[in-house]
Formats: sequence, structure tokens, C-alpha cells
Amino acid sequence: MEQDTIGLMKEAAGKAAVDNMVKSGMKLGLGTGSTAIHAVRRVGELLAQGTLSDICAFPTSFQTEIECEKLQIPFFTLNSRELSAGLDVTIDGADEVDPQNRLIKGGGGAHLIEKLAAYASSEFVITVDESKLTDNLGGGFPIPVEVIPSARVQVTKALEKIGAAVILREAVRKAGPIITEHGNLILDIRFNILINPSSLEAELNQIPGVVENGFFTRKPPVVYIARSNGTVEKRLPV
Ligand code: 5RP
Repeated sequence: MEQDTIGLMKEAAGKAAVDNMVKSGMKLGLGTGSTAIHAVRRVGELLAQGTLSDICAFPTSFQTEIECEKLQIPFFTLNSRELSAGLDVTIDGADEVDPQNRLIKGGGGAHLIEKLAAYASSEFVITVDESKLTDNLGGGFPIPVEVIPSARVQVTKALEKIGAAVILREAVRKAGPIITEHGNLILDIRFNILINPSSLEAELNQIPGVVENGFFTRKPPVVYIARSNGTVEKRLPV
């Protein structure tokens, strides 16, 4: 599919989610990536128009925080008085979505805080174009595993022991690995056997040194799916 078409689909999904889910006075989790950024921009646009007011946002990455700054969307940490009671809605993107609305996230390396936002929210909403749909979660996109730097070798060995092929994620325009917002590394892992995403999500986090992995199987979101024919479908969790 043409990049322009994909870009338009991402924008349509992000806008549809905001227009349907966001109301004045809400506390909002704002996700990361090239789809979620359209939701952030739509919130900024509606605030500037005066259609929305009194929004408190929680950005899930430096990318989103910088966009909030640019758009003058008021943002806070989850520890702040403004947001410590929790979020109303979190809108984010995903790398893969299966028929049960289970996800792989973390293509942008922000899955740790994205999971925190998802669990802090009454409503969890995902926006994707249809190319992200899969019947076999983890069969295409690698599963990101965030690890503390001193556990890199031990965790790699533990992952290989359970059958994973492991690649340390490299930075672009910086020599060496990427460093997350929390000073950690990311191992991208693949399995060439059929996996059970729900049990693997729990199992990966049992390995000492793993901070969080990119499976999102325990809080299935509402998913807005942009189709190449220009429509956006809202798919409820099963
Ligand atoms: C970042 C994420 C993103 O939401 C995910 O990678 C999708 O990104 P994009 O919309 O750019 O394809 O999980 O950690």
C-alpha cells in the first residue's frame, strides 16, 4: 500500500478516536508513534478551537510531551495531584492487533509507560490502520522487551533458553543501542514456534532484569481501525 494512503488512514483513525471518545474536563493518556500523534494533534486542534476545554494530559514519551508543548496541551505526570486519581481515556497506537484486540506495542520503545497509562485509564483506545491486523500475534512484528542495562547478557541467555531469537535494538543517528526514556535497553525477540501471547506476557516479566514487554493481553482495548476505503471501524473488545 502507498505510504500516502497509510498516512491518511493513520490520521483518520486518530481523529475518529478523539472525536468519539474525548470530552471537555477529561484526563487523557496520550500515546506514542506516527498514528497516536494524529490523536494528539486532534486534541490540540479542538482545544485551540475552544471545542474542548479543561484537558489534563499524560504524554507517554518525549515525542508526545514535545508535541503537547507545541500544541499547548496541559500535561502532567501520573504522580501529580492532577492525575493521581487516574485517567479517563488513553488513546494510543499499536504494532499488531489480533481478533481478540490483544496487542503488540513498543515499536517506538515506549511500551513501559504506555502500559502504565493503559492500566491507569477507565477506557483504553487503540488507533491503527488495517495493515496492523493479524491472526497470529507475535508471528510478524518482534516483541520488544525492555531490560536494565546490567541485565542485557543474562536476559538474552534466558530468552534464548525459551526459544527466542534476540536482537539488541540499535539506535538511528547514534552509535550503539537505543536508550529508553528510563535509561534501559530494548531486546527485540522472535519465536519460530507458535506462541501463547497471554502466558508469554507474564512469563517474560518473570525474568530478573526485564522491566516490561510489549504484549498487551490483559486489558483489551476498543480499537479504531482505518480501512483503505476511507472508513473507520470501531471494534469492541470480545
Ligand atoms: C510506541 C508504540 C506505537 O504505538 C506503535 O509502535 C505503533 O506506532 P506507529 O503508529 O508509528 O506505527 O507502541 O511504543
